[in-house]
Amino acid sequence: MKYLVTGAAGFIGFFTAQRLLKAGHQVVGIDNLNSYYQVQLKEDRLKELEPFEHFSFVKMDLADRDGMAQLFEEHGFDVVIHLAAQAGVRYSLENPFAYADSNLIGHLSILEGCRHNKVKHLVYASSSSVYGLNSKMPFATEDSVDHPVSLYAATKKANELMSHTYSHLYQIPTSGLRFFTVYGPWGRPDMALFKFTKAIINGEPIDIYNNGDLARDFTYIDDIVEGILRVASKIPEANSEWTPEQGSAKDSSAPYRVYNIGNGSPVQLMDFVKAIEKAIGIEAKKNFMPMQPGDVYKTWADTEDLEKVTGHKPQVSVEKGVEKFVAWYRKYYQV
Ligand SMILES: NC(=O)c1ccc[n+]([C@@H]2O[C@H](COP(=O)([O-])OP(=O)(O)OC[C@H]3O[C@@H](n4cnc5c(N)ncnc54)[C@H](O)[C@@H]3O)[C@@H](O)[C@H]2O)c1
Repeated sequence: MKYLVTGAAGFIGFFTAQRLLKAGHQVVGIDNLNSYYQVQLKEDRLKELEPFEHFSFVKMDLADRDGMAQLFEEHGFDVVIHLAAQAGVRYSLENPFAYADSNLIGHLSILEGCRHNKVKHLVYASSSSVYGLNSKMPFATEDSVDHPVSLYAATKKANELMSHTYSHLYQIPTSGLRFFTVYGPWGRPDMALFKFTKAIINGEPIDIYNNGDLARDFTYIDDIVEGILRVASKIPEANSEWTPEQGSAKDSSAPYRVYNIGNGSPVQLMDFVKAIEKAIGIEAKKNFMPMQPGDVYKTWADTEDLEKVTGHKPQVSVEKGVEKFVAWYRKYYQV
């Protein structure tokens, strides 16, 4: 099968492409290698993919309309796994237009590519942040996601809406994946695990938001990739019994689905910090801070659907996952 993986130099895209290549598939990866975080890390991930015979990389921006149209036409992809985006909740308060360009225009480029080139399945990244003000736990795909609290979340919700439209109009099967705080080796430098590990090793204090009273459903990268690939092999069908009055938000009369992919067990921020301290062997200097605008208090994924449809239940514990990250970090940065 021929796959397009967008954001292939990114954290989740890199591991997804690697798994597909190891299984013998053909993968075209695209990424604009932007400098939101260290470009070297993105280049080093790509270096790991280069030895695979069936991998090719194209440096391209999703918003390059002609370039994207040509790429789709040239390759005739079977499946598109769309993971490129401007990620990060806090940065969306600083640079909102980056989110409009990559997440709105970019997503439209992908949908148009799928529309004109008979792609069999589009799997794309949404986010747990779409749950916004929702406080019902755990977060279920039937819940309302109409009250986001950051522009990032709003663009991710917009991706789901745009995908539904294309599934409805052009019968393109689309599956949206709401990822819950993904972590692991080769992870993102703007996320807590990376920042905390770096600061603790350097003897610097770590910023603990909302005085530590936050919880996240941390999900290990291998569990996420397993979920992505299993969902990719389950092409959604139109639900003929679905009605706007009685149907669920997770599917439709169009071939459209959304899933949560999370560990299904929220961890208190201070327990997460303890796991990092244990893995590093140093106690952190802690700088307690107020709640950050755009943040949510707690995330917790209801993953029943994912399990029912794909048989996959994420299971790597935070202790194990953090240990693996710290081991990678020490080796990669030689510290
Ligand atoms: N990591 C998480 O915890 C998490 C949680 C929820 C959702 N997500 C979503 O999952 C996807 C992957 O996230 P990640 O953690 O791997 O992030 P990442 O930043 O490591 O990867 C995204 C990649 O996309 C590329 N990119 C961004 N804008 C682009 C554009 N306009 N054109 C081409 N390439 C572009 C970046 O250079 C980067 O390499 C994103 O859509 C993100 O919003 C991630």
